Amino acid sequence: MKRKLLSVMLIAAMTAALTACGGSSSSSSSSTEEASSEAAEESTDEGEEASAEATGQKIGISMPTQSLERWNRDGAYLDEQFQNAGFETVLTYSDNDSGQQVNDIQNMLADNVDLLIVAAIDGEALNTAMNEAAEAGVPVIAYDRLIMNDAVSYYVSFDNYTVGTLQGQFIVETLDLDNAGDTVYNMEITAGDPADNNAGYFYQGAIDVLQPYMDAGTLNVVSGQTDFDTVATDQWSTDTALERAQNVLSSYYADGTQLDVWLCSNDSTALGVAQAVTSDYAGSNTVIITGQDGDEANLKNIVDGVQTMTVYKNVSNESIVTLSLAQAMLAGETIDESLIPSFGIDCAFDTESYETSDGNKCPSFLLVPSVITADNLQELVDTGLYEMGEDGYLSAVQ
Ligand code: GAL
Repeated sequence: MKRKLLSVMLIAAMTAALTACGGSSSSSSSSTEEASSEAAEESTDEGEEASAEATGQKIGISMPTQSLERWNRDGAYLDEQFQNAGFETVLTYSDNDSGQQVNDIQNMLADNVDLLIVAAIDGEALNTAMNEAAEAGVPVIAYDRLIMNDAVSYYVSFDNYTVGTLQGQFIVETLDLDNAGDTVYNMEITAGDPADNNAGYFYQGAIDVLQPYMDAGTLNVVSGQTDFDTVATDQWSTDTALERAQNVLSSYYADGTQLDVWLCSNDSTALGVAQAVTSDYAGSNTVIITGQDGDEANLKNIVDGVQTMTVYKNVSNESIVTLSLAQAMLAGETIDESLIPSFGIDCAFDTESYETSDGNKCPSFLLVPSVITADNLQELVDTGLYEMGEDGYLSAVQ
């Protein structure tokens, strides 16, 4: 736990950068990010069919963007879960624009929502909206990404640090680094969006596992680019990750130097790195590439041997935990680990690891991520959320 807190302190020193573009969508009002608004509306319809008795309460669900696959799933699942439980919902996507997300949340407050669920674009840029929520007495659940504001009552996420350690351990085991002898393996690193509070946890979890091997010279980052700010990827952009990977490959590997592994914090960045390795890497060895999320394109790359693993987070389960927590909050129940059996989902109640401000701990429900490779894709099919086509590729069940 102490190590985690130390990591958090290190991460607090990182600079935040975010470029913006506009738009929002809602299952009940405006819609500029059309594509998955449709998915949300479909789930809305299903939700209405299966609706429990109406609670008369309204839930605001603020998601960051539809440009990354997972958030489309999160939005649709949350919308569906809450509607099935008899809540009215307002779902917005803010197109990776923090100003837009503040507006969207303000509109939800004006719309008299009873509770807010927010996956922040930038955990430090929502103060105006969070302070207004506190003034209005509307409780906030930080969903997946923590918000640095004490208006947040609870945090629901996966164990973010563990996501990184799973990636690091995978590299250690796959290359058998403990028995490497004098062999030196070359590695590069791509991390996530500095504005996303999770990105530092993913990076630090992996680095804490890999650092001893880097110190011993068993793992060698040929570019020398290891610190978070240098390897971070604004908005988790695939194109940005691709461009940096191409630069690294042409600057450090064009002479035939062998690249063994590329640590990528998530699937959208792994997609760009895999593309660069496929087109710009001169070597013929398979480069180990890590990821996170189980996005469809990455699962295809795993089947094709272009990506090696992904850390899977079942976001349907994340939405179920969020619904149960919200119901308990609105019913005025005690919120602690005694709720967990009612979730029916493996998770931990953690009151130590996360803070919304200096010294202000945020009680958190943290679900358990898992490693997916070409060898256990069936586990995804077994969740009922993916199906395997005759071609062997997985697609999300609509
Ligand atoms: C993180 C999230 C990851 C990944 C990433 C890019 O905050 O926890 O699952 O999706 O954002 O969106």
